[in-house]
Order: sequence, then C-alpha cells, then structure tokens
Amino acid sequence: MANVAIVGAQWGDEGKGKVVDIYTEYADDIVRFQGGNNAGHTLVVGNEKVVLHLIPSGILHEGKRCIIGNGVVLDPEVFIKEIVKLKESGRLTDDSCLLLSESLHIIMPYHKRIDIAREARSGDRKIGTTGRGIGPCYEDKIGRRGIRLMDLLNRDVFARRLKEFLVEKNFLLEKMLGEAPCDYDQILEEYSGYAEVLRAYMADTALIINNDLQAGKKILFEGAQGTLLDVDFGTYPFVTSSSTCAGGVCTGSGVGPRHIHEIIGISKAYVTRVGSGPFPTELFDADGDRLRDAGGEFGSTTGRPRRCGWFDAMVIRYAVRTNGLTGIALTKLDVLSGFDSIKICTGYTLDGKALETLPSAPEAFENCQPVYEELPGWKADISGAKSFEELPDSARAYVKRLEELAGCPIVLVSVGARRDQTIILRNPFL
Ligand code: IMP
Repeated sequence: MANVAIVGAQWGDEGKGKVVDIYTEYADDIVRFQGGNNAGHTLVVGNEKVVLHLIPSGILHEGKRCIIGNGVVLDPEVFIKEIVKLKESGRLTDDSCLLLSESLHIIMPYHKRIDIAREARSGDRKIGTTGRGIGPCYEDKIGRRGIRLMDLLNRDVFARRLKEFLVEKNFLLEKMLGEAPCDYDQILEEYSGYAEVLRAYMADTALIINNDLQAGKKILFEGAQGTLLDVDFGTYPFVTSSSTCAGGVCTGSGVGPRHIHEIIGISKAYVTRVGSGPFPTELFDADGDRLRDAGGEFGSTTGRPRRCGWFDAMVIRYAVRTNGLTGIALTKLDVLSGFDSIKICTGYTLDGKALETLPSAPEAFENCQPVYEELPGWKADISGAKSFEELPDSARAYVKRLEELAGCPIVLVSVGARRDQTIILRNPFL
C-alpha cells in the first residue's frame, strides 16, 4: 500500500495533469496541496480536451474523492465556473466527491488587482506572474490578514474582516499603485453569493484525509507548478508564492511525512518555462521554435508562448534531491521525434568553473553556461509505442541516459497526450 505525491521537477507545465489522471485509477483520494488557478492542467479524455485550473483532475474519474487542501488559495469565481462546466458535461454528479478545506485562503478582487498593477509597474524586473492574485493572497495568509473559507462563510466575520482589510488595500491601490479603490459593498455582495455555493463543499479536510489514511485508503497528492518555482527552493524571486516541492504536501494538506511513501517528479524530455528568470538551456533558434510548435508549448492558463530548451540534468538532479524523488515520470518524449541529434545539459560552468549544483543567486544563475553532450535523434513516430522495447534504439538510449544523469529511476514515459499513450515501467502504487 502506498500513498504517492506528484510534483513538478522543472518550471511547471511538465504534464502533471496527465500523470495524475493515470495514477488516479489506483487512488481513493486526490488532494491538491498548494497553488491556485495559476495552474492549468490540460487533459485529453477520448476526443475531448478538458482544462482544469483548480479542481483535481481526478474529478474526471467516477467515485474518487477530490480534495482541495488548506495550502491552496481559491478564487471562488473560477472554482464555481469549473463546477458548472463539469456538471454541464455530465460530470460531478455527486457533490460529496469534492471537498474544500475550511482553512484554505480566498483570493479577493484586490489580490488580483494588486498582482496585475504591480507587474505593470515593474518594467524589466517583472516576475511574469499569471495575474491571478496568487502572490498577494499568500502574502496576506502569512501576514495574518487573509480571509479563509470558514471566514467567508460566516457573514459577520467576513464583513468585519473585509472592512478592516480594505482600508490598507485601498491605500495601496490608490496611493502606491495609482489604481481605483475596491468597493466594499460590491465585494461583500458578490462574495456572499459565492459563499452560498461553496458551503456545500466545505469540510475539515485534514481530518478526513487522516481518517481515510487510518482506513487504509490510498491518497494521491497532486502538486502544481514545479520545483524551480518553489518559494524557498526555486529561482527566487522568479517563483510562485507557495511550496511546490514535496515538503509542501504536509503543510498543505495536514498529513504527517510518514504517510507519503512515493514521490514522483514529473519532467518533460526537454525544458520549458513561462515568465521571467534564469533558464540556462533556453533556445532562441529554430530548435526552440520546433519544440514550441511540436509540443504545443503555449500556457493553458494565460496562452503565453513558453520558453523552450534542452533537457537540463542539473535541474533534474536538484529536483531529485530537493523532493527526495523515488521516481521520475518523463513526458512528451514524442515531441523530440525528428531531430537529427538531441542535446542534454550535463552540467554548468560559471566563470570557467564547473558547478556542483544550481547557484542560489539569480545573477549567477543567469550567467551559467550549459555543458552539453549530444545524442543521436530518431525519425520514427513513437506516439503509438506501447512498451519501452517498441521505442527506437536511440530513444531508449536517450531515456536511459537521462535516468543515469538524474540518479533516479524513470517509472513512466509518456509519448502523447492521451491516456493510452503511456508506457508504465513501474507503478508507484503497487
Ligand atoms: P504566479 O504563480 O501567478 O504568482 O506567477 C509566478 C511565476 O510562476 C511566474 O513565472 C509564472 O509564469 C509561474 N507559474 C505560475 N503557475 C505556473 C504554472 O502552472 N506553470 C508554469 N509556470 C507557472
């Protein structure tokens, strides 16, 4: 019996949604533990494309319990839209399958406005946030001036806290950011309306997860973003505001570390990044364009073109170490088909010296030079491969080399967006 955590091993968008969707079959509960609707999971089920930003993709499977844990920040409007869409497509027929932690923090209109206004004023220092209010909401959580779901659902508490907080927020918006203030009555009315919808989903989810653990149920913890966007371990300040690494599972869901048995890092067979910040293997040439086009590398949340580059073994080794990965799920291998040769970054040099790991300072990271080795590519279309043996020799050699450089077993290889385009080498649940 195993409980499994899934985390992004790069800068997000590694294809976690698809892997979570596949692993969901073996789990009873699927738990999101951090982030918000800055995430976006695109799933292909049959011929249908489903994009989810907040609700765990496990919701596409009948009878699974999906939990949005206390570590998540929730935009009620987005959550309600997702519920409506799911119901319209004949899903989410049983509301008790979806639970929201009473302690999760609510993204307020002023969080979104502050996020966007700050970015607009930051010029070339901007983070490139998704503009969803994620950072400002987490700031208020840590600053002890947040509004939790339980507060939103208590009209008196909500009204009082909103009034108190708006004084400071409107000062910031008007005096510092040159924006119009937020209107108290309008927010109170709009959010009180949301509260009535959210009430049906609120629960003490930490208790429920722990009861399920006691009952021997299997839990899948679904991370969002990626290791290098972690607020502590990522390329700060070009990060998101939550703990995207495995450590965030416990604080974001209320379980002890001993309940997590397997930690699977999701990694593309190359690298992408959206937003600003260092990216040593980034390509600015035709190879980069080719990866973007073949991989459909445009953000599922913002539609922004993603920055693309070769696989970076320094990054994956860092992810293995920081998360204690027990396995790697390698996605989008099919996107590399057709290249004459494929480069892998095996190390960095800085000022002519080889580095042991990623530099902490962004200024140093920006100046790292990747050291490449080049492997032969393959021409065949591998999107129909059903086993590792069916892959061309050079594709197998590429995967094996990545595994060797990572120092961690590759447990899954994805060769296309559909569920059946997946080669499972080891199932972490069994
Ligand atoms: P925020 O999370 O909107 O504050 O954005 C902070 C940084 O994280 C920006 O560089 C975003 O592009 C990046 N980011 C946030 N969510 C995702 C994601 O799901 N995939 C990839 N990058 C993300």
